[in-house]
Amino acid sequence: MNRRLPVLRIGAASAVAALCLTAVPQAASAAPPATPPGLAQQDTLRWNTPKDFRIGSAVAGGGHHTSADYPEPFPSDPEYRSVLAREFSSLTPENQMKWEFIHPEEGVYDFGPADDIVDFAEANGQVVRGHTLFWHSQNPDWLENGDHTPEELRAVLKEHIYTVVGHYEGRIQQWEVANEIFDDSGRLRTEDNIWLRELGPGIIADIFRWAHDADPNAQLFFNDYNVEGLNAKSDAYYALIQDLLAQGVPVHGFGMQTHLGLQYGFDGRMQQNLQRFDDLGLETAVTEIDVRGPVGADGQMSPELRQKQADWYRMALEACLAVEDCNSFTVWGVLDEHSWVPNTFPGYGDALTMEGGYERKPAYDALQETLVRSQPGGDAKWEHHPAFR
Ligand code: XIL
Repeated sequence: MNRRLPVLRIGAASAVAALCLTAVPQAASAAPPATPPGLAQQDTLRWNTPKDFRIGSAVAGGGHHTSADYPEPFPSDPEYRSVLAREFSSLTPENQMKWEFIHPEEGVYDFGPADDIVDFAEANGQVVRGHTLFWHSQNPDWLENGDHTPEELRAVLKEHIYTVVGHYEGRIQQWEVANEIFDDSGRLRTEDNIWLRELGPGIIADIFRWAHDADPNAQLFFNDYNVEGLNAKSDAYYALIQDLLAQGVPVHGFGMQTHLGLQYGFDGRMQQNLQRFDDLGLETAVTEIDVRGPVGADGQMSPELRQKQADWYRMALEACLAVEDCNSFTVWGVLDEHSWVPNTFPGYGDALTMEGGYERKPAYDALQETLVRSQPGGDAKWEHHPAFR
């Protein structure tokens, strides 16, 4: 636990952060104070995040939440909103900007739920990561099962990108423009991705150009899972991005989702891999981290596995902090009870950093300790940290 980080990040909690933390979430009239009695403001992830670094969370809603036995947390739960505001400085809509959500019928857009997240983020001094514009999954039926010609599809895609990116112009820090376009062996998904299938790989350069045109200030990312280590898939991205940059295509970032499973290994070359993308002049980011493990009937893993999970969260954060332009680290949700993992990977779960009534798991403590220690004087600061009260 006492490992030193290779790079020190300058600056810690600022007065600005303090002001933002006291801002009351706009739509939550019944919201409790941002910092509940008994919890020091300094004892949050956000407070301890180095200057220019963002600690983020997905905002629960849509997707698997629609069939869950709890109400949508973001619109309905003041405590959830309060935790989002005080713990995180970056938000990613978990589903609310995906095609099936934001473009449910041809020519019909539903910006409401995503607008609420962007408004909330601005009211609380947070940035937003947009997710996503080009994917093989969670597309509306009218698109996947329509009878558009390739020319029509190209027009539909272009219109979608200009409309959605344009709608949020100036309000999105990083856009996940293209999501999961390679399979694990490093082949483009030319069968299950409708755009690659119907329009060919040349469309990739176009979508980055269109997005850049629609919002010249947004950083435009590729994003995928199983690309944390050095492997065929991350190699494929490395080659593609080099090629696009050589053509002058506006690609600005590479995102590692980092959906990890304790039954697999942690690739110790994550930092090296982030660094090679950094060396291309890109921003990098950890965009959707969760670390799942086998769970019992109570939905929890053993204490030993929880400790291993905490180590993996720490190692991923250390890798990002050590790379100069890895400036954003997002967990894929706040509470285990809301996580997509048990739905998608039966028998696995316990993948996030908080549970129940926002109790902190060892993984949370590992993230906080890593953030504190990464800064000048951090080791000494950690000894006197309010987390120990
Ligand atoms: C997941 C959401 O968390 C679920 O709510 C939804 O039902 C399915 O998608 N990679 C991604 C994310 O890029 O959009 C996925 O999110 C998780 C895997």
